[in-house]
Amino acid sequence: MTGLPDGISYFPDYFDRKAQETLVETIRDIVRAAPFYVPEMPRTGKPMQVRMSNCGNLGWVTDKKGGYRYQSLHPKTGKPWPPIPETLLTLWEAKAAFDGMPEACLINYYGDSAKMGLHQDRDEEEFAAPVVSVSLGDDCLFRIGGTSRGGPTQSIRLRSGDVILLGGPSRLRYHGVDRIYPATSTLLKDGGRINLTLRRVTTS
Ligand code: SIN
Ligand code: MN
Repeated sequence: MTGLPDGISYFPDYFDRKAQETLVETIRDIVRAAPFYVPEMPRTGKPMQVRMSNCGNLGWVTDKKGGYRYQSLHPKTGKPWPPIPETLLTLWEAKAAFDGMPEACLINYYGDSAKMGLHQDRDEEEFAAPVVSVSLGDDCLFRIGGTSRGGPTQSIRLRSGDVILLGGPSRLRYHGVDRIYPATSTLLKDGGRINLTLRRVTTS
């Protein structure tokens, strides 16, 4: 696809089917150790529509009491997050163009009707590193806006195996998922979509 803003890099089909299957198996192992949970919006405590987990030294979490934050322990099990899989570290090294490794990988699971509203990823200290995103399973409609709320947006249909980076002048662009296209992939046996986002959190 052409016409994406400066700082957005899109790699359709970055992972072939075999690599996607292997990655899904790895994610299943991670989620066995660090189960999906229902994140809550800060203040209201309203449940988000996605189910979340993480891997890495840090994980992004949100709940009514503590708000958006990174922490080293799973909020329900109290255990450290499992490590980031080698494949994803290799992806980061190949594409992030940043001198430092990712510290967090947020794992979002979307059921057929789940969405994610437009938001910025800005709970990190380090904005020089991109956010590197991997899509697995059903297609979704991904919306990209500007660096302030409102204004024009553009949409791109992300498919299983696609990788997209938000970096440079686009690091703080608003983005969200308008919809999932159910049954567009056979990768996940129960359907839905998994999104993995690799983030550098600290500046050290
Ligand atoms: C996110 O912004 O955390 C997820 C984006 C996506 O699901 O593609
Ligand atoms: Mn995000």
